[in-house]
Amino acid sequence: MTTIDPEFENLLVHLREVRGFDFTGYKRSSLMRRVHRRMSQVPVTTYGEYQDYLEVHPEEFTTLFNTILINVTGFFRDPEAWSHLRSEVLGPMIAARGDEATIRVWSAGCASGEEAYTLAIVLAEMIGIDQFRKRVKVYATDVDEEGLTQARHASYSERDVSSLPPEILEKYFETSANRYVFRKDMRRSVIFGRNDLVQDAPISRIDLLVCRNALMYFNAETQARILARFHFALCDDGVLFLGKAEMLLSHTSMFVPVDLKRRIFRKVPRERPVNGGFMADMPPAVPRAELVALDALRGEAFAASPVAQIVVTADGLVAQANRQAETLLGVSAKDVGRPFRDLDVSYRPAELRGYIEQAQIERRTARVGDIEFPSVNGETTYLDIQVTPLVDGASHLLGVTLIFNDITVARRLHDELEHTNQQLETAYEELQSTNEELETTNEELQSTVEELETTNEELQSTNEELETMNEELQSTNDELQSINDQLRDRTEQLDDANAFLEAILTSLRGGVAVLDADMRVRAWNRRAEDMWGLRRDEAVGQHFLNLDIGLPTDQLRAGIRSVMTDPSEPVELKLLAVNRRGRGIDVRVMCSALVDVTGTGSGVLLVMEELGAR
Ligand SMILES: C[S@@+](CC[C@H](N)C(=O)[O-])C[C@H]1O[C@@H](n2cnc3c(N)ncnc32)[C@H](O)[C@@H]1O
Repeated sequence: MTTIDPEFENLLVHLREVRGFDFTGYKRSSLMRRVHRRMSQVPVTTYGEYQDYLEVHPEEFTTLFNTILINVTGFFRDPEAWSHLRSEVLGPMIAARGDEATIRVWSAGCASGEEAYTLAIVLAEMIGIDQFRKRVKVYATDVDEEGLTQARHASYSERDVSSLPPEILEKYFETSANRYVFRKDMRRSVIFGRNDLVQDAPISRIDLLVCRNALMYFNAETQARILARFHFALCDDGVLFLGKAEMLLSHTSMFVPVDLKRRIFRKVPRERPVNGGFMADMPPAVPRAELVALDALRGEAFAASPVAQIVVTADGLVAQANRQAETLLGVSAKDVGRPFRDLDVSYRPAELRGYIEQAQIERRTARVGDIEFPSVNGETTYLDIQVTPLVDGASHLLGVTLIFNDITVARRLHDELEHTNQQLETAYEELQSTNEELETTNEELQSTVEELETTNEELQSTNEELETMNEELQSTNDELQSINDQLRDRTEQLDDANAFLEAILTSLRGGVAVLDADMRVRAWNRRAEDMWGLRRDEAVGQHFLNLDIGLPTDQLRAGIRSVMTDPSEPVELKLLAVNRRGRGIDVRVMCSALVDVTGTGSGVLLVMEELGAR
């Protein structure tokens, strides 16, 4: 038993007032669990906080409703029950209705539509697709708009349709982009709409009402209200098909089981009111004198019966009442001969006059069951009253006998049994709803696992790509390393060659200047530095003719040009110059062409030799 939590009840009232969703009739245990689940995801800890959260985040309502309204479903859920429904209920029903009759079925609490399309398939398999389109209407309703939208699309994944045999899948579904879509021509006969089982008026004239795995979420009182609506919705011989956890044991006055195991019930039609006045048109009464002339033995046997009994003549007079009738009902011998309708017992504890009339007209026993009656000792007694017509050999009505069976003990046992059954029913329903919750949680977990698997695969492939890139980088690195090694070797060789050249230049007795094709100084040896007082770093890169030294370089211009034009003819010149100390000196300058291995000139080599001071 769940205790009432006022804060939770306030939250339910808030949901009803703000969004029109009435969850007050839902079983608290499952409902609270679902709300808690959502609260922990927000996260908040108290119902009050959650109500505040809903006020600030109106989009939370949809998420909450999706969490509360468990929508586990499937095609042909409990296949054995469906096949029994088809052969034992729908077969005879369709045959009895005839070839032209329309068939109206209602899937109440249809979730994403699988149940409604199952109904369509079952009926089309029985009467053919053409007849189905002409004669059948499948009404499918739910309170959950999102579920209805999915149902209207009629598009299902491979997993959704996995319970269907291949030939049914082939016949009733079209495939499009890996989805299975219920065939359009039949879909027109399946009408989806929003209907709240707790608040909305039912659909009427229904032959088969399928409401599976929805009732179990409601408390007993709300279930009773919904069942009264279902009773109204069904035709007099209509059938109600419930989910396997829903037994309806406590509603035997509205429905009787056709097959309790498969949860198939038939409506008990309402009794028609009895018409006509009390005993007005009855056959002539048996003369009173004859009645009072009953022999003593019969009289005593009657009087001693432990069951209260009153006999009334056809014209409504009390003919006899036994001792138990006196004890229980206060009707005694002194009432014999009085009109029965003048006695209290004629209308209290039950209105018996109508039943007496009914028994007389129909000539069969009428029963008034389960009447609560405060007995003389103050305890409540329950009576089952049997009103039986009495006729003579020629079928003339003599009167009626009223037998008052005391069923208090039986009733108590029945109540206890019913109570136990109800507890059993509730426990079973709770078990089933918990099961469905677990299924939902399982599905959620499964999809999380699938997401993680996908992420893992993606990470793995990224990892593989990175590994490939790494390998490529490694090989590029190796290549760069070998190029680097080669470059280092080359550099070392060049350094050697440079050092070698440097040594040659340094060892030469004369000053040496190497010019490129533009007459810019490329090399300038130690001796040249000494002669002209110009450091190598000051000379290299400068135009030779622009050097500020004691050598009259402009006198060399023609010689240099000539060597450049004809590399095979060196030119020798003697010039007057001034050395770095400012002394006049004679200098011999040898201009030779700088040629490469192909013999092409690429500059000029000037060797400057001091011949002596002047
Ligand atoms: C567990 S599903 C059952 C679906 C389907 N009948 C089956 O058995 O496979 C319960 C359905 O009842 C619906 N439901 C819950 N409360 C409802 C209400 N007050 N009125 C109509 N449907 C309701 C839910 O939205 C959900 O789709």
